Amino acid sequence: MKLVVLGLGYVGLANVAYLINHGQKNVVAFDQDEKKIALFKAGRFPFKEAALIDNLKKASKKILYSSSSKDIADADAYFVAVGTPNKEDGTADLSFLDSAIEMISKSSKGSRIIIRSTVPVGTAKKIRERLKSFSVISLPEFLAEGRAYEDESSPYRIVIGATHPADFEFIRNLRKTEVNNGTPFYYMSNESAELAKYASNIFLAMKISYINEMARLSEAVGADINDVTLAMGADPRIGHAMLKAGLGYGGSCFPKDGAALLETASHEEVSMLLPKATSAINDTQPLYFFNKIKERFPNLQGVKIALLGLAFKAGTSDLRNATSLLLANLLLAAGAILSAYDPSKEARDAFAAVYPSITLCESKETALQGVETFVIVTEEDEFAHMDEKGLLALMAGRVIFDGRNLYSTHYFHYFEYVSIGRAAVKPTI
Ligand code: UGA
Repeated sequence: MKLVVLGLGYVGLANVAYLINHGQKNVVAFDQDEKKIALFKAGRFPFKEAALIDNLKKASKKILYSSSSKDIADADAYFVAVGTPNKEDGTADLSFLDSAIEMISKSSKGSRIIIRSTVPVGTAKKIRERLKSFSVISLPEFLAEGRAYEDESSPYRIVIGATHPADFEFIRNLRKTEVNNGTPFYYMSNESAELAKYASNIFLAMKISYINEMARLSEAVGADINDVTLAMGADPRIGHAMLKAGLGYGGSCFPKDGAALLETASHEEVSMLLPKATSAINDTQPLYFFNKIKERFPNLQGVKIALLGLAFKAGTSDLRNATSLLLANLLLAAGAILSAYDPSKEARDAFAAVYPSITLCESKETALQGVETFVIVTEEDEFAHMDEKGLLALMAGRVIFDGRNLYSTHYFHYFEYVSIGRAAVKPTI
């Protein structure tokens, strides 16, 4: 059986690695970007996905990486995992998807198209109407960045949207391991599968905005949001996941999917208050935290500040919709002098390209040298265990802003400690 995966971001690559590791012998990994293909052929993968990279390297001899349309001819199925970014108006830009479909139509007289990309509801139906000799299956991915292979190979559920029983069976055969290990499979229409993906992501984003809004109240009434979430999450109907108060969500998924869902709703003339509020709260969260910095430093002109964590979340190198960008804009506009650090070199390089005036450092210690204060922007492990005496020796000032609540409010003695949803703590020594 010949299988082609089009679009080699982390979703497409996780799909490729899964297929190879589950016995498929003829898998073509296709991307139009020749530079990308050359990198992958050389065994270089410029992102932080340890398990995925490990699996791809092990399988390197079995994968045909290609940017040539000849290599994708006459496949039994085409997995489409191209990006679907947002246009200015919030609608999904389907130009990559359109060109993938166009290529498939020229490469095969008819087989299966399996959509992994997150696409607006109705997309599968439109493709089916356009390419009548193809089955169109929706197989949404639920992969979080940084753990793409883990999520692809051990999913919570497999959602299959299709119209013919044979198409459901086709996916079941490819995913025999999950059939055998009892992973839930859900069979539904393409529309339901497409909406299930958006509904899941926006629900997770809503949990984050809910807790961030609750954090503001928590602070006002003298509660500690970490204790509040501990109590809430113990109820399995609520759960602990996605309830960490912080600087808001970023990345390539939640912001984009929220906007796309609202566009679909408005097109259908359905009012959706919760997704709207979710994104509005998120938009103001970095500003809310910046105001805490302003309260403590009303005049930021010339104040030296370090930003710790630049990617949109810990463990990745991705700067898309990263909170660090918003904070940097606000701090620079107020006249602060910034240094910055992220464990990922790719993230540092990308950040340096946007902000030539910010000093990018190869360690947090270098970034902290001589600063008045620093802001913890992401939840990296190395930011959660800093030695207070070490900080005293490095820094000029004695204030810490923790945008991820990584420390207990009793941890610091020499520093003023400002976090989210908890009262600021003055130094005790
Ligand atoms: C998200 C979903 O978690 C995946 O299930 C989904 O498949 C994926 O989008 C997608 O659509 O492809 P991802 O964007 O990689 O995955 O990242 P998350 O780990 O969900 O984090 C998103 C943002 O929320 C980050 O900025 C993170 O810092 C923030 N976050 C997360 C919080 O502020 N609080 C939390 O409790 C959890």
